[in-house]
Amino acid sequence: YGDYNQKIDYVFKVVLIGDSAVGKSQLLARFARNEFSVDSKATIGVEFQTKTLVIDHKTVKAQIWDTAGQERYRAVTSAYYRGAVGAMLVYDMTKRQSFDHMARWLEELRGHADKNIVIMLIGNKCDLGTLRAVPTEDAQEFAERENLCFMETSALESINVESAFMTVLTEIY
Ligand code: GTP
Ligand code: MG
Repeated sequence: YGDYNQKIDYVFKVVLIGDSAVGKSQLLARFARNEFSVDSKATIGVEFQTKTLVIDHKTVKAQIWDTAGQERYRAVTSAYYRGAVGAMLVYDMTKRQSFDHMARWLEELRGHADKNIVIMLIGNKCDLGTLRAVPTEDAQEFAERENLCFMETSALESINVESAFMTVLTEIY
């Protein structure tokens, strides 16, 4: 388990972005440590976690960066995006506004990141299906128009989380 004594073939930096409270930190906690917290605190500044995986017989260290969705807690933007080869653009499928803001997040991302960055649009909290405010088709349409991959996930119920990160990492590779 872990990186101990392991030869790393590649390090891939992936950034998480999106409004506050959409579940970025919990998606990361689920992917990196298989943990989830209901009383997750808002992120202040920047945090990151790593997970080492094997893709196509190569050892890949995924370095996933997580920042605050709240403007006042965000750290210097350009440093956050520097060197990123993947991005997860996260909205809360029960909060229409968090989806409507995706265009703005995408603009910031494209303004700062490498042009070949792999981007995944994520509709999180799919466990709250009865409260859905964003139809799957709306997100699919946006993703197609902007050339993004798209998945609906639940960090709480561990739905599609592994799959979303693995899709991005495999695509980068
Ligand atoms: P900032 O750090 O402020 O940008 O927020 P964030 O996007 O990191 O959100 P965070 O991961 O802290 O989650 C916000 C709230 O949503 C917490 O109460 C989480 O427990 C909850 N949450 C996160 N993911 C899910 C999910 O998949 N389903 C449900 N039902 N709740 C979730
Ligand atoms: Mg957070």
